[in-house]
Amino acid sequence: MCGIVGYTGRRACAEILVEGLRKLEYRGYDSAGIAVQERQKLKTVKAKGKIREGLEKKLSEEAPLTAVCGIGHTRWATHGEPSDINSHPIGNGRVSIVHNGIIENYRKVKEFLISAGYAFESETDTEVVAKLLDYYYEGDPLEAVRKTVAEIDGAYAIGILFRDFPDKIYAVRKECPLIVGKGDGEMFIASDITAILKETREYYLLEDGEIAELDQSGVIFRDIHSAVLQKELLTATWDVEAAEKGGYAHFMLKEIHEEPQAFKNAVSPRIRDGLVSFEECGLTDEMLKKYKHVYIVGCGSAMHAGTVGKYVIEALARMPVVVDIASEFRYRDPLLSPEDLVIVISQSGETADTKAALKLANGIGADTLAIVNVVGSSIAREAKMVMYTMAGPEISVCSTKAYMVQTAFMYLFAFKLALARGMISEEECRSLVGELCAVPEKIGECLKKLEPYQYAASKLVNAESLLYIGRGLDYALSMEGSLKLKEISYIHSESYAAGELKHGTISLIEQGTPVIAVATQTKLFEKTQSNIKEVKSRGAFVVVVCPEDMSLEQESTDLAVRIPSGSDLLMPLVAVVPLQLIAYYTAVLRDCDVDKPRNLAKSVTVE
Ligand code: F6R
Repeated sequence: MCGIVGYTGRRACAEILVEGLRKLEYRGYDSAGIAVQERQKLKTVKAKGKIREGLEKKLSEEAPLTAVCGIGHTRWATHGEPSDINSHPIGNGRVSIVHNGIIENYRKVKEFLISAGYAFESETDTEVVAKLLDYYYEGDPLEAVRKTVAEIDGAYAIGILFRDFPDKIYAVRKECPLIVGKGDGEMFIASDITAILKETREYYLLEDGEIAELDQSGVIFRDIHSAVLQKELLTATWDVEAAEKGGYAHFMLKEIHEEPQAFKNAVSPRIRDGLVSFEECGLTDEMLKKYKHVYIVGCGSAMHAGTVGKYVIEALARMPVVVDIASEFRYRDPLLSPEDLVIVISQSGETADTKAALKLANGIGADTLAIVNVVGSSIAREAKMVMYTMAGPEISVCSTKAYMVQTAFMYLFAFKLALARGMISEEECRSLVGELCAVPEKIGECLKKLEPYQYAASKLVNAESLLYIGRGLDYALSMEGSLKLKEISYIHSESYAAGELKHGTISLIEQGTPVIAVATQTKLFEKTQSNIKEVKSRGAFVVVVCPEDMSLEQESTDLAVRIPSGSDLLMPLVAVVPLQLIAYYTAVLRDCDVDKPRNLAKSVTVE
């Protein structure tokens, strides 16, 4: 995700800001920049690319900066490709800002500002905040900040400079972290403590709706009505490496904990008036009505997200969907026509096989839609339409939050397609959207207590091989559970459609063989329960992942991992969390290199 740092004090700040940004590099970024109060002017230096080759090079070509107050940013593109123009800080001569997060209503605000005479340079949602601050600024920065915050929706952390107040930084946040660091005669802002740990360990946590006003003498916190707030000064005890992982032992664990926010970032901007809008990529209802077939193509977890998509799309839109592994699709001369839609899914946007599949589909003249996380990646550029999953950078090799948002997109697509093709009513669609928006809370519930997953892992740690079973959507999900476990813990595992077991695979079951049964589909539960009994009676150690209100037969279950209940259709989005965490803790217990499993790369750019 993007990173923020800010400094006001007595020292020349450009190098302090750049050093802070270097500390935020681990978060992933594609451009970096700073803005400083230099001789009564707001001076901005920013560049696409790595700090060393972009920002630092540009700074070295400038006269040395003497400013003692400034803000800096590492950007991970969400709205608009990585470019100098889209980099932060963003502003005009009077106001400059850095922004993490997403402004959901930026289109509406932008229209208003255009009608008020503003012209826009970048493709970012951030520019509307900078322009809105300028619009409201009449000599009182706090008033401008208050009025701006009242107009914007979304998740954000924002650092602001006003040219007329050369020693001050203003900061606000909602749902995105921001801290205020306290030094000796100097103050800092930062999106996480890592950026300023070298300078100070003392900091305040800015809370949602609070406004911070900093200068070298200290900070004043106010609520949205201007009442001054007293806040507790905290002391960081982390070392730098732990801080980069936000205090989590591994990036994988951190990224699983980021899932509720990643989900919101992906879904909320695509909901308009309670329905799904794909306006941003140009996919219209007319196009959706005319497609003959939908193909979904990807590799690994991305393909598994597509498999969940197949079940959901077919259930709602009553349209056949073909899911394909990209390396198969590209060589099997698929029965594609220009009347079909091919959805390619990729976190990195650089996976060689997925790229080749996309090229093939483009060549045949089919419409292509890329669901991609990395903005400006090859797949994003080559597809006819693109939608970004906005999950932020995923550093752990193993996909967790990326899978989560890819799957969330499958639901958005299914709702949109089903409504466009008249298979569900607007009212039904609104209700489905409502349920989808409630998912982050349920994921949050799963993350509250980690002991059940740790306990389950302790029962699997010595296994040589295990099976994941399920029916319908549970089968689609068990594929992902099995992949997670094997790739990071190196325990052999397979996923099986529960009803298929007795056609061969059940012969693998012997005394103590672990079987993880995913049982979230109430209408299939009796059938799955029979399969559970079959493996139990042959000696399996059975772990069942199921909703809290599902009644299980005690004698055939060794361990139940409960998740919040909900409608069958949306259960994979919640049930994947325990599967990811069970895999994670099993790998930890086996002392595996969780974030960098052997033989694997984050981005598979070769065939
Ligand atoms: C599994 C995993 C891989 C990726 C696959 C596709 O945890 O990370 O299976 O999902 O290599 O990668 P992308 O999504 O970048 O195309």
